[in-house]
Amino acid sequence: MKIAFFDAKPYDKPSFDKQGAEKGISFKYYETKLNEDTVDLAAGYDGVCVFVNDTVNAAVIDRLAEMGVTVLALRCAGFNNVDMKHAFGKLHVMRVPAYSPYAVAEHAIALLLASVRHIHRAYIRSRDFNFSLSGLTGFDLYGKTVGVIGTGRIGRVFIDICRGFGMKVLAYDKFPAADLEGHYVSLDELFEKSDIISLHCPLTDETYHTINEKSLEKCKDGVVLINTSRGALVDAEALLSAIKSRKVGAACLDVYEEEADLFFEDNSEHIMEDDVLARLISMPNVIVTSHQAFLTEEALENIAETTVNNLHDHFTKGQCPNELCYRGGTAVDCKDGKCF
Ligand code: NAI
Repeated sequence: MKIAFFDAKPYDKPSFDKQGAEKGISFKYYETKLNEDTVDLAAGYDGVCVFVNDTVNAAVIDRLAEMGVTVLALRCAGFNNVDMKHAFGKLHVMRVPAYSPYAVAEHAIALLLASVRHIHRAYIRSRDFNFSLSGLTGFDLYGKTVGVIGTGRIGRVFIDICRGFGMKVLAYDKFPAADLEGHYVSLDELFEKSDIISLHCPLTDETYHTINEKSLEKCKDGVVLINTSRGALVDAEALLSAIKSRKVGAACLDVYEEEADLFFEDNSEHIMEDDVLARLISMPNVIVTSHQAFLTEEALENIAETTVNNLHDHFTKGQCPNELCYRGGTAVDCKDGKCF
């Protein structure tokens, strides 16, 4: 089987080549992202493999179907970049529901620790032999209240780590889990009581701009915001205003609403056109990483293994347990095989 692999990066190839060779699946690696202009590169392939910033809208889906490509293998968990409603009945969409929740949760904690202890600033200073401590006063995480929005695989690991620091945990989830009972509060209460807020829910119509001007007003002064989930959960302009007004004490961002044309690429030779991102990055209390929370050796290996298994299951058995179906107006993992 031949798969057109879009938005390929050097770190993707070793694990995909290894896993693919074991299962008779070969990949043609394209550095370009999948979108309406590039979709024809998939002609003659059995399927396409995409990541978080590829565009799988109605036009792309229709063109793939016209070319006889019927399989879309997402090598990520989130699928907000796929028009699932339009894909239903045309494309078999499969994903990697979990590859290392530890990778993402640990990155969120790394950002939090760096931020509250000003490690990013201290690192730059000491490289210049500036050993002054002025302006580097942090605060203890012990005893602080952390609000976790989304208590799925990643949110849970994040909560476990926070408990290890002796933090109090408040949580909000649309579908609360029984074993975390006692931690759940309303979103408003979470905003009002949390010293730190970390986002671990998917991006949906409902969660779009969860962090906005109004919700930020409800937050404690000096709240620390962590977003390792999806950029559009946060209204970046509202965040910038709240940083300027000192409402937000620090922001740790692994994702950004307008990241699609910027993140994962070297833009150091270009003028930054995005004024909001440029201003955020200029702030001493903002740390931005380039959607790298997933990037561990373990996660890359798991991503390749599950993606290849998904494709292999689909082509050999005609079904795949990690297929997404658009049922009842929402996308769900397919548990019973045939999606259409
Ligand atoms: P998951 O599906 O295990 O957990 C998501 C949780 O969010 C579930 O408990 C669900 O009930 C909850 N949820 C759904 N709708 C909600 C709503 N309206 N309000 C509050 N909670 C809601 O997903 P997982 O594996 O924990 O991943 C979470 C997110 O992390 C993904 O959707 C993805 O966007 C992001 N992610 C980011 C990565 C990175 O490299 N920065 C890597 C992997 C995932």
